[in-house]
Amino acid sequence: MSAARKIVFNNRKGGVGKTLSSVNIAYALLYFNKKVLLLDLDSQAHSTISLGVKSEEGSDIVAFLRGDKGSSPALCRKEGRGLYLLPSSFALSNYEQEAGNNPRELLNLKKRLSSLENDFDFIIIDTAPNFGFMTLSAYLAATEIIVPMPPNFLSLKGLAETKVICDRVAVKNPGLRISKVLLTFFNKKLRHARSVIDEIKKMFGPDILLPPIRNSVRLAEAPSFGQTIFEYAPDSKVAQDYIKAAKAIAAE
Ligand SMILES: Nc1ncnc2c1ncn2[C@@H]1O[C@H](COP(=O)(O)OP(=O)(O)OP(=O)(O)O)[C@@H](O)[C@H]1O
Ligand SMILES: [Mg+2]
Repeated sequence: MSAARKIVFNNRKGGVGKTLSSVNIAYALLYFNKKVLLLDLDSQAHSTISLGVKSEEGSDIVAFLRGDKGSSPALCRKEGRGLYLLPSSFALSNYEQEAGNNPRELLNLKKRLSSLENDFDFIIIDTAPNFGFMTLSAYLAATEIIVPMPPNFLSLKGLAETKVICDRVAVKNPGLRISKVLLTFFNKKLRHARSVIDEIKKMFGPDILLPPIRNSVRLAEAPSFGQTIFEYAPDSKVAQDYIKAAKAIAAE
C-alpha cells in the first residue's frame, strides 16, 4: 500500500460543515474499498461524538500524540476495509496548551502519523474552528486541504484566508495545497451561490469544486444519534451527495 493521502478539512471560518464532512466523507470512502483513519483534532470532540464514540483516556488522540503504549487507532466501523478513529476529548485543549509552548512539538503529529501512513489509504483530519497549535500541526502533517464552505460571501473570505495560511505553511511542508473546495448547505436555487461559485473558480481554476452537499435537516440530525448519514438516513439525497463527493476524492 502506498502512503496515505492525509487530508485536513479546514476553513478559517467556523460552523461551515468541517465535522459533518470529515465524518461522512471518511465513511463514504469505505464504499470505494478504502481503508480510512479519522483523526479528531478538535477538543470539542464533535466528530468523535458524531460517531457515537466515547473517548477514553489512554487510547485517545492525546495518548497518541504523547506516544503512549497501546494508543493506536481503534476500529470504529467494520464496513469495507474499516473506518478507524483516534477520538478526541476536552483533554486535548490541555495538551495543546502545554505543547504550544514548545515550537518543536508542532512536528510531533507529522512524526506520529508517519508510523501509520502505510496502513491506510486516507487519513482524514477534522480541525477546530480557531487556527491554533493543533490546526497548524495538521497543516504541517497533511498532504492536502479540503475546504468545506457554504456558498456565501463571508465563507469566500474564509477560503481566501485559508489559502494565505496554506501558502505560508507550504514553505515548511512542500506540496501542501488546497486540493478541493466542498460546498455545504447547498441550495442551487439561490442566485447568490452562483456568483460565489464563479469567484471560487476564478481563484482556483475550473476543477476545484467537489460535487456539493445539499442543505439537509436529516444530516444535521444524524450526530445526535451518534450516526453517520449512511446509518441514519441511507436513502436520503444528502447521503448520495457524500458518495459523489467521496468518489471524486478517491478518483484524484
Ligand atoms: N449540509 C448541511 N445541511 C444542514 N445542516 C448542516 C449541514 N452541514 C452542517 N450542518 C449543521 O451545521 C452545524 C455546523 O456543522 P459542523 O459541526 O459540521 O461544522 P464545523 O465547521 O465542524 O463547526 P465548528 O467550526 O464548530 O467545528 C451543525 O449543527 C450541523 O449539523
Ligand atoms: Mg467541527
